[in-house]
Amino acid sequence: MRLYKGKSLTQHLIENQRANGGSGAFSAALNGVIMACKRISSLVDKGELVGVLGEAGSSNIQGEDQKLLDIISNETFIGQTEWAGYFAGMASEEMEDVYHIPAEYPVGKYLITFDPLDGSSNIDVNVSVGTIFSILRCPENIERPTTADFLQPGTKQICAGYCLYGSATMMVLTMGNGVNGYTLDKDIGAFILTHPDMKIPESTNEFSINMSNMRHWEKPVKKYINECLQGKEGARGKDFNMRWVASMVADVHRLLVRGGIFLYPYDAKAAAKEMGGKLRLIYEANPISFIVEQAGGLASTGRERIMDITPSELHQRIPVVMGSREEVQHVINLHRA
Ligand code: AHG
Ligand code: MN
Ligand code: MN
Repeated sequence: MRLYKGKSLTQHLIENQRANGGSGAFSAALNGVIMACKRISSLVDKGELVGVLGEAGSSNIQGEDQKLLDIISNETFIGQTEWAGYFAGMASEEMEDVYHIPAEYPVGKYLITFDPLDGSSNIDVNVSVGTIFSILRCPENIERPTTADFLQPGTKQICAGYCLYGSATMMVLTMGNGVNGYTLDKDIGAFILTHPDMKIPESTNEFSINMSNMRHWEKPVKKYINECLQGKEGARGKDFNMRWVASMVADVHRLLVRGGIFLYPYDAKAAAKEMGGKLRLIYEANPISFIVEQAGGLASTGRERIMDITPSELHQRIPVVMGSREEVQHVINLHRA
């Protein structure tokens, strides 16, 4: 086995915080998130051996059927983060309302939002899934935050990350000064810095979209995908490749490693249900946009920068176009045309 010298996520966080004059409290706050992701990773690895596959028999606020692991991951995330005194409240894709810190624990100064299990349609078929989270400051003098306290634009995030439970488990984090990737060494139970300063290549010829929704898209996105399909003979003058895992975390991780464009655009089917898109602004689009921008990419709805949007409700959904700068800019231009 090859020896490696990578530093642990804990060491990297503490060193970064020291360099920026921080107290260390924030690194400790992340510790609970890291522990939650390790526990979820362990459950994902064991799968049916520990009986975590299959349906829960319930549905969430958005009317989606919940998988057993959606619920277990949600409980795990809360259980590992609520006790430590860093958070004043939480909001999760799987819970209708804001979660308040139980009275027996101290209340902290941060808010955390999360998608405990992203890509849950993939869990039973042994394909990659993930966890996404975002940390915001709790407004001053608020001990019991309400929904309004969470409705902050993505530009206010102070940290965002995802954990990908793939062929390896990886944590990818930003605190607003670049993006770093850490791989879980399951033998020692620690994330090790393996992908420092991740950057999304500026150009790409790989797109990621659920083509089965094509008839519901707006004209600019239809035009864009048609250009891609025409390849060398079309307006773009190059051949494109397509990938769709159907776990946003896995599709976005590919963008961070080798570039690409990821779209879950506005579609008339979602609009009919008064939703602008499928992906959730607070739990999915904002944290991933923060990471994508920090890695040099762009993240837009097609018409505006995602992180500039002030959410109007906790479970709001929006269209998403993100990834390699040149390609996303081209899609934005098509929306303007
Ligand atoms: P979740 O499992 O948290 O509900 O998210 C699933 C999302 C996202 O991860 C993925 O990109 C998309 O839904 C897949 O949608 P399709 O089923 O339309 O492919
Ligand atoms: Mn999700
Ligand atoms: Mn989910």
